[in-house]
Amino acid sequence: MRQTPQQPPSPSETVGLPLWLLAELTYRCPLQCPYCSNPLDFALQGAELTTDEWLGVITEGRQLGAAQIGFSGGEPLVRTDLPELIGEARRLGYYTNLITSGIGLTEQKIADFQRAGLDHIQISFQSSDEQINNMLANSHKAFAQKLAMARAVKAHGYPMVLNFVIHRHNIDHIERIIELCIALDADFVELATCQFYGWAYLNRAGLLPTREQLARAERITNEYRARLAAEGHPCKLIFVMPDYYEERPKPCMSGWGSLFLTVTPDGTALPCHGARQLPITFPNVRDHDLRHIWYESFGFNRYRGRDWMPEPCRSCSEKDEDFGGCRCQAFMLTGNAANADPVCGKSPHHGVIVNARTEALGLPPAVQQLVFRNERNSRRVSGV
Ligand code: FES
Repeated sequence: MRQTPQQPPSPSETVGLPLWLLAELTYRCPLQCPYCSNPLDFALQGAELTTDEWLGVITEGRQLGAAQIGFSGGEPLVRTDLPELIGEARRLGYYTNLITSGIGLTEQKIADFQRAGLDHIQISFQSSDEQINNMLANSHKAFAQKLAMARAVKAHGYPMVLNFVIHRHNIDHIERIIELCIALDADFVELATCQFYGWAYLNRAGLLPTREQLARAERITNEYRARLAAEGHPCKLIFVMPDYYEERPKPCMSGWGSLFLTVTPDGTALPCHGARQLPITFPNVRDHDLRHIWYESFGFNRYRGRDWMPEPCRSCSEKDEDFGGCRCQAFMLTGNAANADPVCGKSPHHGVIVNARTEALGLPPAVQQLVFRNERNSRRVSGV
């Protein structure tokens, strides 16, 4: 039974608004990327929210001040109610984003989404090489479909926004990736080196590039940037370094419970997409309204502000810029989410990051040896 708090708004309402609502509509996905950020035990999660339940979440999110909504998954296109959800979100005044692999997309669906008011579509690729792309995706048609849909998205007047997850098995093809994006007339390209959550963490030894590979990829990206700018070309290249080669942590989620609200397929509400693995019982939209979840729940308040910080974060002059880094990364690498993110050179656990960099100097496992994200592996790695 859903509970709505009776008491007046608490003083904790001085916290920011959940401006960004991420609606993870489903964990179902036709692909099986071994770096997927979905939880390892996704196959064991409860029933997906119904259309009406999602419409309730979207409405409450907007009432709470959310301005942007991202529809993701899994693959959100497997939900047949997607046009309805997009339409309602747009009607309520959200800026609407679709984050998709492009598999299952058709010209007709793009037209339907456009009619529903969709503002933005991002298509992800696995590689510029058809064979590697299809091997990573576990689909022999994936690459051709992605190319066709990227062109179709642009033909419908959307900016073409492409995302390539960069890792050990494609980083040395960075020129080919960028050339493909230019040939496709992409407007924005995110060259996002793999961050190690979910399946990527499980496969880290096979995915983390070396420092040398990263330096080369960044240099080449910068050379293309300069060339494109000189030619007045509209394509923008964004290169994202992996945390593992930084000495200071990222201000993950702009701070816990400060801007981002994720609702997972079964209705569990999280301050970030990775938090499900923490030893915290997070609230569910089937039991509580979003106002209660955002302002009152234990999970959303657990790492807000600075009071929870131990040393070295507590006395660090940079704590208001990076908030101690990423709670999920701290948990995965130290077993305690309250610790400083080990990415930070001041963390007593920074050695685990240094060791991972050293490990990356060895021969990586072949693509075929990676643990692919699928139901069977989800049950196996979860011990079921
Ligand atoms: Fe959860 Fe960084 S991914 S706090």
